[in-house]
Amino acid sequence: GDAMLCDSHGRRIEYLRLSVTDRCDLRCTYCMPAGFKGYEEPANWLTFDEIERVVGAFARLGVHKIRLTGGEPLLRRNLAELAGRLSSLPGIADLSLSSNGTQLAKHAQALRAAGITRLNVSLDTLDQARFATITGRDALDAVLHGLMAAKEEGFGPIKINMVVMAGTTDNEFDAMAAYCIEHRFVLRLIEAMPVGETGRKTAFVALGTIRERLRTCFGLVDGVVAGGGPARYLVSPDGSCQIGFITPISQHFCDTCNRVRLSVDGTLYLCLGQDDKVDLRALLRSGCSDDQLEQALLDGIGRKPLKHEFCEHPTQVVRFMSSTGG
Ligand code: GTP
Ligand code: 5AD
Ligand code: SF4
Repeated sequence: GDAMLCDSHGRRIEYLRLSVTDRCDLRCTYCMPAGFKGYEEPANWLTFDEIERVVGAFARLGVHKIRLTGGEPLLRRNLAELAGRLSSLPGIADLSLSSNGTQLAKHAQALRAAGITRLNVSLDTLDQARFATITGRDALDAVLHGLMAAKEEGFGPIKINMVVMAGTTDNEFDAMAAYCIEHRFVLRLIEAMPVGETGRKTAFVALGTIRERLRTCFGLVDGVVAGGGPARYLVSPDGSCQIGFITPISQHFCDTCNRVRLSVDGTLYLCLGQDDKVDLRALLRSGCSDDQLEQALLDGIGRKPLKHEFCEHPTQVVRFMSSTGG
């Protein structure tokens, strides 16, 4: 339709990040605390019917990109069924998934068949011991195995999300780039954000210097890669190497923000770096009409903050990254 969601800063909202569970089978140091006990009660999880209803309302308002996130989204039972329902909704043109990859080998085929066309996988290192230190589990082989299974399914293009930390060495960028070139994956380097007390403890590394070294080393030029997100890309002229840089701290991209986030408990978060939110679960469970639901989305988007304040107020966002999946 012609409907549009515009915020009060003139930005058009067309991308919903949809967290289908806050659970995760890893404990990446920058995301969730070890021994975390605060998972959401199943009674508060939006059901597939409720999720479909919210996504339908967003779609009628012009949101045509949906990304499934977690926690780890593959821990939500029957995720492929939900993906199939969402990808067939009128107006949904782009259904993607962000996963940690541990369970991908088992699910890749069903997810691709259900209409998920783009896949991003978290992978910070190719070193087995370092992977275990960062994630709390010796699961590197499972992730690499999952990536090979996903590669067979023809997701276009698979992106590797690498959060750059103080201990990350130049040696790891070269190994990750070589791995991604070999398998035709897009590599994305990410500056850690102070979301939750764990995110806050992770010193971010500004990517500018690394970007210029990789540009020279691999002969890259500014380029474009399909996606709805904030990454800025360098590519090799023959297309064999594509590296994205996500720089929320050193060079933020809030002026072109096009998204909002829905957590598994039905809270609509208007900005990753702010606490402004709308309780959609209460509204849905009060028996609201479709018009009321759409009005709540319009009102909420109207209150979307201008930008994050990670630098000015680094302790502001107390929820963990796992509640919105980034
Ligand atoms: P594409 O659609 O493929 O471009 O994906 P994406 O980059 O939007 O999604 P992904 O889930 O792979 O996220 C990669 C990183 O970008 C994560 O660290 C996210 O937290 C971060 N990110 C995504 N959207 C935003 C945003 O609006 N603001 C900020 N500050 N970071 C974001
Ligand atoms: N800062 C930046 N990115 C993060 N992610 C998780 N926590 C953080 C953080 N504190 C990333 C994950 C995943 C993506 C969805 O979000 O590595 O790839
Ligand atoms: Fe958008 Fe907020 Fe992310 Fe900035 S921090 S890009 S405004 S969601």
